[in-house]
Amino acid sequence: MRSLKWRSVAAAALALASAAATVLVATPASADAALRVHAQARGKFIGTALATSPLANETAYRNIAQSEFNQVTAENAMKWSDTEPNDNQYTFSGADQIVNFATANNQQVHGHTLVWHSQTPGWVQNLSATNMRTAMNDHIATVVGRYASNPTVVSWDVVNEVFEENGSFRSSFWYNTLGSSFIADAFRAARAADPDARLCINDYNVEGINAKSTAMYNLVSQLRSQNVPVDCVGFQSHLSTQYGFPNDLQQNLQRFANLGVQVRITELDVRIQGSRTSAKDATQATYYRNVVNACLAVTACAGVTIWGFTDKYSWVPDTFPGEGFALLYDNNYSQKPSYTAVHDALDDGTNPTDTTPPTTPGAPTASGITSSGASLSWTASTDSGGSGLAGYNVYNSSGTQIATSTTNSATLSGLSASTAYTVYVRARDGAGNLSSNSTSTTFTTTGGSSDTTAPTTPGTPAASSITSSGATLSWTASTDSGGSGLAGYNVYNSGGTQIATSTTNSATLTGLSASTAYTVYVRARDGAGNLSSNSASVTFTTTGGSTGGCTVAATLQTQWGGGYVVQPVTVTNGSSARTSWAITFTLPSGHTIVGSWNAVLTVSGNTVTARNAAYNGNLGSGASTTFGFQVARPSSDTSTASGYTCA
Ligand code: XIL
Repeated sequence: MRSLKWRSVAAAALALASAAATVLVATPASADAALRVHAQARGKFIGTALATSPLANETAYRNIAQSEFNQVTAENAMKWSDTEPNDNQYTFSGADQIVNFATANNQQVHGHTLVWHSQTPGWVQNLSATNMRTAMNDHIATVVGRYASNPTVVSWDVVNEVFEENGSFRSSFWYNTLGSSFIADAFRAARAADPDARLCINDYNVEGINAKSTAMYNLVSQLRSQNVPVDCVGFQSHLSTQYGFPNDLQQNLQRFANLGVQVRITELDVRIQGSRTSAKDATQATYYRNVVNACLAVTACAGVTIWGFTDKYSWVPDTFPGEGFALLYDNNYSQKPSYTAVHDALDDGTNPTDTTPPTTPGAPTASGITSSGASLSWTASTDSGGSGLAGYNVYNSSGTQIATSTTNSATLSGLSASTAYTVYVRARDGAGNLSSNSTSTTFTTTGGSSDTTAPTTPGTPAASSITSSGATLSWTASTDSGGSGLAGYNVYNSGGTQIATSTTNSATLTGLSASTAYTVYVRARDGAGNLSSNSASVTFTTTGGSTGGCTVAATLQTQWGGGYVVQPVTVTNGSSARTSWAITFTLPSGHTIVGSWNAVLTVSGNTVTARNAAYNGNLGSGASTTFGFQVARPSSDTSTASGYTCA
């Protein structure tokens, strides 16, 4: 699974060279080729952070951003304060603006950043531990989930800046409320939301070998030994000439690489004190050159992202009084010696010599048009430049790449019904050169709107095969009478976030956290996209490393204004036979138990302990039994019992 998006990274890398080559169409790759052309030839990315306002408003900014760089990071637009300013109210306008720009320019996006103590709204910081963990998981599921099937977004900073300078955990609201477990939870949630994305931990002042970078090294090593999905380490590299260059940068990158992770320079800038002089420019240029050379020397170093490119929009003067001029271009978009240093470090004179694009493909013909898809085919291109025809990119009328193909046909899916689509194709060769645009074709998807009848509500999911990181759900199937037919099911968590889809009446959940209660429900979906009502929910608790030896899954059977019935609660034994069992769960305040069957319940505060009855304590290996109970609650309250744990 994971290799999927990484494979598309390779495809994107091919395409990256192509956009660069497009820019340079009349210029053979040479000493004055763009940074991205040279970086591509070395198998690395060269990136920049982008700010949304100049990207929208300044042509000069856009031109350099697209022609010089093959990777981008949103400087602010993907941070929590921008994407979820209020609980469960998401805004993606800035994030989408950056991702769309990158897609149009064959650039890969590094998502920055999911869990950080800074630029995170106050409502998150004041939550209780349980609610903070839920908010974190929901945020990650939603933000990462939004781009999970988008091949432009290839990686994420999952946690950012979790260390103090002395190597202890930063005393942030995350750490102070949740302890260090939030780090592993965040990575697991990100993996669940996008199994193909590369997941990074990112920090500053970790470029050289020191207490902080060694703490990072130890943490990454430990997390990986616990199968926590940490794929990559980001070295921010906000350098200042007053502190000297970290000469052990390459050695430090290599020791992390030896742990099996990708490494990357994520936020490079080199600030100088006072005003610019040619001597200071020259010193700064050596810092840039040294960083690029260190990355080039370490195979596992994917590339270098610079924290912006023009001094006009650098964060440095606002943050470090008396320092500035940290980037490659001055305020007027003129290249500085640092640009030349980065360029020359990347240029080893062995650029691809094929600068001849393939011939223009024929206009695509659309066939097999349905309400949600179509097949395109076109007359093939030929390539005479030496590297050979590699494939085709398909674009929509706004220039966004919507499909790629290695043959002269492609299948489009996920289209909207009764909608006109205008598409064209470009051929791509092995050196990444892109042909001119083909003539475009417009086709209209068929009306799906005649079917407005939702499928019937699926049965309550039952959880089985519960492990510390996953579970299998199955439910009674829905039927569909609207004409478009049953297409599948969506699985949601209690926050309403879609966490899985399935084409059958079962689904496998992966990437869950250990010893955690999950409440899930399903909805059926038909071919026209109509969704059924929510099924009833089931709550199950993943197993913990050492506790239990049994698992529990609770089903909300029915509920009304003033109460609810949970039935069955299925207790499944582990591998050793037992003579008794005990389940604990939490009642929301104001809820009271009014009855139970097949178990003996005791209540202490909000915690209920359900012990076996005289007749159902004996459970053989893998055997299960069930019990149930009824609760009264305030009529305005819709919450239910949670946190089922097998003790
Ligand atoms: C900075 C941005 O550049 C500023 O525009 C913003 O006001 C504050 O954040 N470490 C990080 C980045 O991980 O997100 C920070 O970016 C710089 C330090």
